[in-house]
Amino acid sequence: MCTVTCLASINIAVIKYWGKRDEVLILPVNDSISATLDTDHLHAKTTVMTSSTFKEDRIWLNGKEEDIKNPRLQNCLTQIRKRARNSNQWKVHICSENNFPTAAGLASSAAGYACLVVALAKLYQIEDDITSLARSGSGSACRSVMGGFVKWCMGSESNGADSIAKQIVPASHWPEMRILILVVNDTKKKISSSIGMKRTIETSDLMQHRIKHVLPNRVKIIEQAIIEKDFKTFAEHTIKDSNQMHAVCLDAYPPVIYMNDVSHTIINFVHAYNEAVNEVKVAYTFDAGPNATLYLLEENVPEFVGVLDHFFPPGINLEQYRKGLTFKEVINSQELFNKINTTRQAPGSLKYIIYTKVGNGPKYLEDPNDHLLNKEGLPI
Ligand code: DP6
Repeated sequence: MCTVTCLASINIAVIKYWGKRDEVLILPVNDSISATLDTDHLHAKTTVMTSSTFKEDRIWLNGKEEDIKNPRLQNCLTQIRKRARNSNQWKVHICSENNFPTAAGLASSAAGYACLVVALAKLYQIEDDITSLARSGSGSACRSVMGGFVKWCMGSESNGADSIAKQIVPASHWPEMRILILVVNDTKKKISSSIGMKRTIETSDLMQHRIKHVLPNRVKIIEQAIIEKDFKTFAEHTIKDSNQMHAVCLDAYPPVIYMNDVSHTIINFVHAYNEAVNEVKVAYTFDAGPNATLYLLEENVPEFVGVLDHFFPPGINLEQYRKGLTFKEVINSQELFNKINTTRQAPGSLKYIIYTKVGNGPKYLEDPNDHLLNKEGLPI
């Protein structure tokens, strides 16, 4: 019997992966760049276990047994077993849970597949690159296999051998970077990213412009900005890339729409704030949903959160509303509020906010008390 437990967190792209050139191998049409968030918040925790007594492979997700025959999961498992350095042919039990509500609409597949692959790689003693294994579960998962700022190189080989993720810099390179996730109250069912990106690549003319004429240069610029810790350039290109991803979505036929009115209000608010302070202090980015992720430097958090609370008043008590690391004292400046040219929202348009930072990537939990499976291989 052998058991491994690990944690992996979500990543938030600043250059979006949007569009596949191979649907089965999950190969992208462009390079993408993201930061992997700290494992204290927004992580998946996964225990994998093999035993000679197990009769079949099984998986439990967030407390519920799921179908192990899911094609993406099978993709992952088959490839991992092919790459195994030991001859472990026993069946595997997998138990995984997120420490954040899936209902929040935050991408959980990236953390989930990264965590699964990192755990299984230890079980099967796989030592070379494992980012391509995570990629075969969910594209963006390959970037969560490492901490810090990470680039997924699209590669050119048809078998996907060179479509792997690489760390640009560790989290310690830019320790001042902070992330605020604004969870928007929303009930609408969204189009999955797989379907949205397929429709975009098949029907959007603007998409060709993005891939050929915008991204090659933007990837280089933002990579350099990260290395040089040039926040202004980083923020401007992060904002532009998010808006371009949503523009090509709107150019799809029928259009793919992820942002809602609150999302657009957040966009206007961030621009109005940056203009009022005469500096680009905050960048926003949106994935396949209405929630905003903001990148900003720690020194600007007290002022920005004061302004955010003024224009988006919390609808619940602050303890429930602010999740994550504790804030330093929030600054409330009426003079600054007056300078920001945007309207105040009704209380509760944001469900809650999560404050976090860039993290060091997946970690193994050695304490047997952390395992999610008992000695019989069943969820605890
Ligand atoms: C908007 O990785 O969820 O978050 O490969 O089909 O599983 P699949 O898609 P997924 O797409 C993520 C898209 C995105 C942008 C990004 O993370 O780069």
